[in-house]
Amino acid sequence: MDAREIEADLNETLVTEAEIHAKLAELARRIEADYEGRDILLVGVLKGAVMVMADLARELRPHVTMDWMAVSSYGAGTQSSGVVRILKDLDSDLTGRHVLIVEDIIDSGLTLSWLLGNLRSRGAASVEICALFRKPDAAKVEVPVRYIGFDIPNKFVVGYGLDYAERYRNLRDVAVLAPHVYS
Ligand code: IMP
Ligand code: MG
Repeated sequence: MDAREIEADLNETLVTEAEIHAKLAELARRIEADYEGRDILLVGVLKGAVMVMADLARELRPHVTMDWMAVSSYGAGTQSSGVVRILKDLDSDLTGRHVLIVEDIIDSGLTLSWLLGNLRSRGAASVEICALFRKPDAAKVEVPVRYIGFDIPNKFVVGYGLDYAERYRNLRDVAVLAPHVYS
């Protein structure tokens, strides 16, 4: 889905598909250098991180393994509740593994801060975070993010995996959702 096809639902485009791909290539080079000689387990957070995971994983040159978790911190709305529930747990045992959490966006930071603590308690050798977007002005807790794609304004955005009420995930670019869509 291209932004011009749903123009009426969107305000400005913040980051294009091409800019995302260029950034993921840059992050992949850093990750390869940092993890040289160590096997990486990429842990994607469903469902928003599906696109980031797919593109980042293919950009990485060494073998990686992938696993998925689903957690919920939002209902169908646009505000984080702070209450995190595991909807789907990992299939893998994390003992001794180098875990890299792959996340779409850090808003309040509540979800990732909880997830980081949860995964660190499972005996991993290391747990780091790669997030494509971050809204610095929305932070309620500081999350130590090793790899960050873009800092963006504190507005509700959709596209490239990010949804509003499960829609817009298949939009190629990332754009600010027009408030009339959700108010
Ligand atoms: P946090 O716990 O407030 O950091 O929220 C993290 C999760 O909320 C993300 O993984 C997204 O799934 C969702 N989220 C936060 N901001 C947005 C947004 O602007 N658009 C779509 N989803 C968002
Ligand atoms: Mg998410």
